[in-house]
Amino acid sequence: MNKILQLWRVATHPRELRMALSGLGVRLAGDVAFGGLTDDETAALVRWTKEQGADAFVEIGTLFGLTARTVARETGRKVVAVDNFCWNPFGLTPAQHEAFTRKILAGSGVELVRGDAEPFLASLSGRMDPSRALVFLDGSHAYADVKREIESCKRQGVGIVAGHDFGNPGFGVTRAVRETFGEPDEVVGMCWIKRAV
Ligand SMILES: C[S@@+](CC[C@H](N)C(=O)[O-])C[C@H]1O[C@@H](n2cnc3c(N)ncnc32)[C@H](O)[C@@H]1O
Repeated sequence: MNKILQLWRVATHPRELRMALSGLGVRLAGDVAFGGLTDDETAALVRWTKEQGADAFVEIGTLFGLTARTVARETGRKVVAVDNFCWNPFGLTPAQHEAFTRKILAGSGVELVRGDAEPFLASLSGRMDPSRALVFLDGSHAYADVKREIESCKRQGVGIVAGHDFGNPGFGVTRAVRETFGEPDEVVGMCWIKRAV
């Protein structure tokens, strides 16, 4: 529980985190990401959700919920955040990770769904009109997984598909996006977006 409380402070007080790390000799240029998004990337998601007229923002791969919480607050749209809690940068167990993320999202209006990306995407039309949704893919970054997720979005008729780690040579996102969509409509940092229908 102590670890969760410390992480809660990290997540909600990024300036304090920066100062604490700088006290340890660790310098962070610009935004603090820690497996999440930079401020510029988050701002792009907020802008895209508004500009594209999406009724709902679906985040596949929530981590601690910071992006989902910001998009919900800044856009007023329905936000659904999906995670199977298989990975986090702090070595939390899946149960600790989920409990921490639920604390961060409490009162935010974000619906947090524990589960895998693909079954969730396959059932999307039972929850919302996919053509009015922006689905942000930031769970698995493996080529085959991302490609299957994009294809699932296409089958479901998702209106706007976006994701993270485009241009990151360590992951298979760029190849999966190009093979399914060609070039994205826009890239900000490593976030990409494509109007799919
Ligand atoms: C890079 S982090 C996501 C960062 C988050 N989008 C943000 O902006 O803070 C990746 C997350 O995806 C989750 N994840 C990985 N593969 C997944 C899958 N197949 N289905 C659901 N969640 C997955 C991990 O547990 C982790 O929390």
